[in-house]
Amino acid sequence: MKRLVVVSNRVADPGCAQALGGLAVCILDALRKRGGLWFGWNGEIVPDEAEPETTSVTFDDLTFATTPLTEREYRDYYLGFANAALWPVHHYRLDLARFAQEAIDGYRRVNDRFAETLAPMLKPNDLVWAHDYHLIPLGAGLRARGVRNRIGFFLHIPFPPPDVLVAMPEHEWLMSALVDYDLIGFQTRTDQANFCRFMCDFMGGEMIGPDVLRIGAREVTASVFPVGIDVDSFAAMAESPSAAKRIERLHRAGEPRINVIGVDRLDYTKGLPDRLRSFKRLLELYPQNCKAVTLMQIAPPTREDVQAYADIRHELEALSGEINGQFGDFDWTPVRYLHRRVDRDTLAALYRGSQVGLVTPLRDGMNLVAKEYVVAQDANNPGVLVLSRFAGAAEDLQEALIVNPYDADEVANAMQKAIQMPFAERKERHAALLERVRERDAYHWMDGFLRALAGCRVPMAA
Ligand code: ADP
Ligand code: F6P
Repeated sequence: MKRLVVVSNRVADPGCAQALGGLAVCILDALRKRGGLWFGWNGEIVPDEAEPETTSVTFDDLTFATTPLTEREYRDYYLGFANAALWPVHHYRLDLARFAQEAIDGYRRVNDRFAETLAPMLKPNDLVWAHDYHLIPLGAGLRARGVRNRIGFFLHIPFPPPDVLVAMPEHEWLMSALVDYDLIGFQTRTDQANFCRFMCDFMGGEMIGPDVLRIGAREVTASVFPVGIDVDSFAAMAESPSAAKRIERLHRAGEPRINVIGVDRLDYTKGLPDRLRSFKRLLELYPQNCKAVTLMQIAPPTREDVQAYADIRHELEALSGEINGQFGDFDWTPVRYLHRRVDRDTLAALYRGSQVGLVTPLRDGMNLVAKEYVVAQDANNPGVLVLSRFAGAAEDLQEALIVNPYDADEVANAMQKAIQMPFAERKERHAALLERVRERDAYHWMDGFLRALAGCRVPMAA
């Protein structure tokens, strides 16, 4: 079997093998089984004067080779371009996008440094797989250094409609860099279609097969590979005796009788203020839920050095305070908001102990929380998933209660439906969802992508 070399900005912490964010979770789940090399940022920031070193550590068959970012790289590449420009543009939020030349330059430089560091580590038969918006030009950087291996790229976040993308300065440079990959993977058919439309309408490409584009002298395959999770290990966590104890504690605490759970990085794309407003509408429209239903929202900090993230935190704190002040009582807190990271086994238990899973992003590449919630349920008494139509997961998980997260009344009505749903309907919906999540797990995702990559034509000589 060929060695797999994965490159991503975020790498799971090798020490505790824990991950936050969909990318690291699904790569870790998939790589644990196959082994290989995982190269990327170690999460550390060093002074600009320091020479960022790459260090390696191996666990079983999996080697983590990681490097810090300098302060300037962190500011320009990670915060400035990846998270203040590409992230909002790809999530259809031009209003939040900030474009600065030094950020674009920093992004180019880090991609170049990563290519320079990685190229000598590669063996001729390695399959190279770059991930996500931080590393769009990495393949081009490797090709410029003579790398002839098959190189694939997977975009974990949405690909926006062409009209949105063209508002971004340097979009032509960025998108033309994608052509150096042999295979480009997307989460959904919508993303794939947006990409192909962009390449044909704005870059002179033409479709020469259902998934194959010709652009100049290059042929690129663009296909859909929805990410998944390691179903068995997550289910085992949810079914463990310690999970049972935690669920008992959750219910013994006196409140709530019905727990609605939300778990998201505190990101403006996750629609958290809209979600809280929907919960408020639930209490207004169906007052019988007062003292009976609690929303537990777990939202760990993320990218706090970007202004839009600081803003969303304040908004959420104000809203949860407002709802608790207006509706709460001595023995009932309507919104329990936790601004921190939680162990995966605790998360699994909390999902299982919650009758409603509320996953209502305004736009999301996939959303693994939706899949985790389904897997964690007790099949003999499952909870109900309320899912935004704008999450990539909605393309597959149609037996959830699909909602428009911008419409507070619609979401409130769906929550009420979930709370009252008869046992037989809950069971039927859950069985269908679980089958789908199981079918498309982390290994299916990785196998599908790598098989397609191995089947791509050998790259043409430079
Ligand atoms: P994104 O990639 O945008 O963060 P996903 O829903 O796809 O969104 O993935 C989020 C991942 O991070 C999930 O696996 C989820 O369990 C994990 N996660 C989210 N919040 C927490 C938290 N508070 N503690 C630990 N893990 C979390
Ligand atoms: O899955 C989307 C994603 O942006 C990943 O690329 C990223 O690792 C994750 O969310 C968490 O964000 P960050 O790495 O910026 O903490």
